[in-house]
Amino acid sequence: MTTLTHYLNDHTANPAVSDVITTITEVGKTISQLLRKGALADILGEAGNQNIQGEDQKKLDVLANDLLLDALAQNSHCAGVASEELDNATPANADGSLLVLFDPLDGSSNIDINMAVGTIFSILPYQRQGEDSENEDFLQAGNQQLAAGYLLYGTSTMLALTVDDNVLMFSLDPDSGDYVLIEDKVQIDADTSEYAINGSNYRYWCAPMQQYIDELIAGKDGVRGRNFNTRWVAAMVGDVHRILCRGGLFTYPFDTKDAKKAGKLRLMYEANPMSLLIERAGGSATDAVNRILDIEPTDIHQRVPVVLGSKNEVSYVKDLHMQHASK
Ligand code: F6P
Ligand code: MN
Repeated sequence: MTTLTHYLNDHTANPAVSDVITTITEVGKTISQLLRKGALADILGEAGNQNIQGEDQKKLDVLANDLLLDALAQNSHCAGVASEELDNATPANADGSLLVLFDPLDGSSNIDINMAVGTIFSILPYQRQGEDSENEDFLQAGNQQLAAGYLLYGTSTMLALTVDDNVLMFSLDPDSGDYVLIEDKVQIDADTSEYAINGSNYRYWCAPMQQYIDELIAGKDGVRGRNFNTRWVAAMVGDVHRILCRGGLFTYPFDTKDAKKAGKLRLMYEANPMSLLIERAGGSATDAVNRILDIEPTDIHQRVPVVLGSKNEVSYVKDLHMQHASK
């Protein structure tokens, strides 16, 4: 049996990265316990304030955010922290070599209905050791990430992690409190017959995305010549986990619902870490056309359209967009 601690001690090249992963995953155990108590812990419901994206914060969002922030501030390798719930990045230990970004509780509207939520994290190098980190230090393309992953608080708590080119899955043993390795070198098939999208936004999508979904729904009677199945967890962490387990395509595409938003998902602490996991597992991740990991960020909280998962399907979506662009 290999635990996360064993794996990080034996395999990873960068001890600072290992140490920060340990801090995040230890907090994950506490968040998992809070979620397990659910309504009994009297922690459900609105905290009464909104995050900077104008979404209501659940109490647990705030709690998870504070727990991660406090723990990472005490980690000497962590030079700064950025979170979905914080307007600006917070400097931590100036001598640290790493920056950490996280979505403390992804899919938090699922909490009230006892469905899966998760914590997504991304670890970047810090270039100005000795000085206090600032927002600009975080603005690095996703291809610079040293490690990334998520904790999924579902029927069991799981950790998906990519470090040193490998994608691994661990399951939290509730008895021992250890993350136990259950899969190494995770890979996903290039082809799939399963897709995830919030279809209620259909009328706001651009023409190639409408055409793509029309073709999938037409199934064996349409140009694709086979049937496709839909799944939508409404927590990116749940949909991406399913794709790492059995392939598929996940998209939250560009839409015209709100002119101020280029997409719904956040580049730096949702799309980038998930894209690194998916690419290292043999899949692809784009904004429909361009590789997400090559996007140069201009804002910690910027949004991006996301199309990720099984390689051939992501590539087909790109082809449709290119065809429409050249018309
Ligand atoms: O973090 C944003 C998020 O909750 C994702 O986890 C999820 O994929 C998406 O929003 C769900 O969006 P919608 O409520 O529009 O289906
Ligand atoms: Mn989220």
